[in-house]
Amino acid sequence: MSSKEFLQAKADGRKLSMVTCYDYTFARVLAKSPIDGILIGDSAAMVVHGFPSTLSMTVELTRIHTEAVARGAGGKFIVADMPFLSYRKGLGPALDAAQTLMAAGAGALKIEGVEGHEDVIRQLTGSGIPVMGHLGLQPQSVNAYGGYKVQGRCGDAARAIVTQARALEDLGAFSIVLECIPSPLAEEITAAVRIPTIGIGAGAGCDGQILVLHDMLGLNVDFQPKFVRQFINGADCVKDAIGRYDKAVKAGTFPAQTESFA
Ligand code: KIV
Repeated sequence: MSSKEFLQAKADGRKLSMVTCYDYTFARVLAKSPIDGILIGDSAAMVVHGFPSTLSMTVELTRIHTEAVARGAGGKFIVADMPFLSYRKGLGPALDAAQTLMAAGAGALKIEGVEGHEDVIRQLTGSGIPVMGHLGLQPQSVNAYGGYKVQGRCGDAARAIVTQARALEDLGAFSIVLECIPSPLAEEITAAVRIPTIGIGAGAGCDGQILVLHDMLGLNVDFQPKFVRQFINGADCVKDAIGRYDKAVKAGTFPAQTESFA
């Protein structure tokens, strides 16, 4: 897949699937899956590094995760998140950050919001860098919201998100993540723009879906948002395996002769 093929998928009415990924080992697994795209999300700050929000993500950390994923992803389409404030410090620093992440192996960059950094988005798309927008709940603005809350519930807020989606399309974005907005609003935006919408907590009417890998694998033991489906209970599977390993070690049945060198 590529950003061009994302656009074609919408034109053809084909749904797009994406998950996040942060490391080489999971990237190797995803490389052998039918997934359409991989996001090196700034959710790495929370999922991998244990920070309370995505605000702690940096360009340097994103570069390291992007390089690791790119080594394993076997040519899958990779989108990297522009971290908190990296695109709000002026055009020069934003382009430096973009250059670092593209050189690390990203095929596209994702940026939250649009107002106030239209120039950055225009410059990136004009420089041949595919840009994925991100509207609705923008986790980098959690402090302004006062928590992680569904966005666009009232008329004015909903209208603003539709306007932002159109602005992103006009600025040359190739797709838009819609996070935590009412399903009817996501459907309206999906119908209003030619670029694909990728939903997370935005209902089934989007052109595609994205989930945080650790959430959909059931590895997040602390928190399960309403919009997440656990396709496997990974935490229980891992706990069970560790328990059996522990038992085998303590019973002296691991390693067996076949697992040892003569
Ligand atoms: O960082 C992330 O994981 C994301 C997804 C929630 C879309 O931005």
